[in-house]
Amino acid sequence: MKSRAPFTPADEDTGARESFEDGALYDFEYRRRRSDLNFYRQLARDRMERAGHGPVVDLACGTGRMFVPLLRDGHDVVGVDRAVPMLERAARRLSRLPSARRARGALIRGDLRAIAFRPRFALAVCAFHSIQHLVATDDLLQFLARVRESLLPDGWFAFDILALDAEWMARDPERRWARTIFRHPTTNERLIYTTNHIYDPVRQALHMRVYYQPVDDKGNVAGPERIVRLCHRQLSPDDVATLLDKSGFRLLNAFGGFHGAPLDDLSDEHVYVACPR
Ligand SMILES: C[S@@+](CC[C@H](N)C(=O)[O-])C[C@H]1O[C@@H](n2cnc3c(N)ncnc32)[C@H](O)[C@@H]1O
Repeated sequence: MKSRAPFTPADEDTGARESFEDGALYDFEYRRRRSDLNFYRQLARDRMERAGHGPVVDLACGTGRMFVPLLRDGHDVVGVDRAVPMLERAARRLSRLPSARRARGALIRGDLRAIAFRPRFALAVCAFHSIQHLVATDDLLQFLARVRESLLPDGWFAFDILALDAEWMARDPERRWARTIFRHPTTNERLIYTTNHIYDPVRQALHMRVYYQPVDDKGNVAGPERIVRLCHRQLSPDDVATLLDKSGFRLLNAFGGFHGAPLDDLSDEHVYVACPR
């Protein structure tokens, strides 16, 4: 891995795509992630009870992890994503729903910065750090402007951010961290997972690399290592407040995690709910 910046916008773009080329692996790696799901489902219920029913848009819907449970809960849901392998899995999940639920869902291939919808939405959700794949401030502002235009005047916009502590960010980028052995969910290939990262302070971008080394049952190397890049814009609460303000949003709530705790310096998941001003 490059041990020093500068990284280019092309590196950032690669980091918003490579992790989403294998939808089956994505679903396997995040199969235990439930708390965000429960939070957003409850939020959708709250929004509909308080301000009346309306459609939901799942921005960067991926494999439908959130999209399908929201449909099961009885909402009309549009899912938007750019990655075909992710959308294909979402479409498969959609096809397995009973026809009455299925009819209330739509999947659209599109870029977060170029969405435009009529009629407008009661709730827009951008879950699992997806907003952080937009690294340039102009891209974030463009996205937020599109979300605002797509919301009803009393609509809500909810999203979450992974906040990393300074010690973790400063880990030696030449070392391999988080070593795990697993089998690929579709190929059954035995893989050693490791990761490392480097922070680009100029662009506030964290560049991660995830390494997948095929090994046989005895642990011997069994093929070339694959490297998947992932890039996240780091956004402090102040950054978020400025971006929301510039985009015509008012912050309704900021939580530290998905259980309603207040956001503080120790929170690693920052969860925001905003509405048009
Ligand atoms: C971490 S996944 C989250 C998926 C889903 N929201 C979930 O909670 O499982 C991030 C998603 O953002 C999508 N994405 C990243 N940049 C995008 C862009 N500019 N436009 C549309 N989708 C994008 C990726 O394709 C990927 O599916």
